[in-house]
Amino acid sequence: MTFESKKIEEIYAGKVAKKYDLSMQHFFARWKKLAFNDSSLKSGDRVLVFCCGTGLDFPHILRKIGKDGEIVGVDFSSEMLNKAKDKIRKKKWENIELIEADITKFRDKLDKKFDVGVCTLGMSIIPEYKSAYYNLFSCVKKQGEIIIGDMQLASGWLARLNPLTIFLSKRYGGTYEGHQNSIELCSMMKKELTEVRKSEFFFKSYFYCIGKTK
Ligand SMILES: C[S@@+](CC[C@H](N)C(=O)[O-])C[C@H]1O[C@@H](n2cnc3c(N)ncnc32)[C@H](O)[C@@H]1O
Repeated sequence: MTFESKKIEEIYAGKVAKKYDLSMQHFFARWKKLAFNDSSLKSGDRVLVFCCGTGLDFPHILRKIGKDGEIVGVDFSSEMLNKAKDKIRKKKWENIELIEADITKFRDKLDKKFDVGVCTLGMSIIPEYKSAYYNLFSCVKKQGEIIIGDMQLASGWLARLNPLTIFLSKRYGGTYEGHQNSIELCSMMKKELTEVRKSEFFFKSYFYCIGKTK
């Protein structure tokens, strides 16, 4: 694990995991809902969720894939995963598996590929986001779908707000470089995937980008 990854892991091992849902549950929910509604997710799909954290994406995904679908959530923070486990137990969700792993090193050991790969609010805090993205990509079958939702640098006159959005995301590991990496990640998606669409929200500082694997 790199020095930066260790720092991120420490952030999520501390107070952040305890209060995460309280501060994050509602803020991004409607944009996430729009992204999952815009996706191809359907009943019975197998979905790989990188940086699943406390599982805030799970209800959105479950609404689409139903009881016949399956979610595999991956995160390297045991504290965040413990919160996800509590949620899964309370809600009696039976089709979710959690894996504690670093997504920059993650290789799917199962022979069946996933229909959809998801990562929200994860890639922008990972310096080796390209490795993480390609690991997600390699786990998704052809004609499958990748859904990324994250913070990014706004451009034009809205760029004046970047210092504020970076400041707000700092306690979750957000940085200027990370928000800039999101722009590069979307360019990669536009080049390598088909039917790519991007939507921007919150003064263009949050986006989702969806595309199909070839
Ligand atoms: C801001 S939270 C996002 C959680 C969830 N996707 C959401 O939208 O609420 C970022 C998560 O990424 C995880 N994470 C960061 N770097 C990671 C890595 N290299 N491998 C696995 N998980 C990582 C953290 O542990 C944390 O749970």
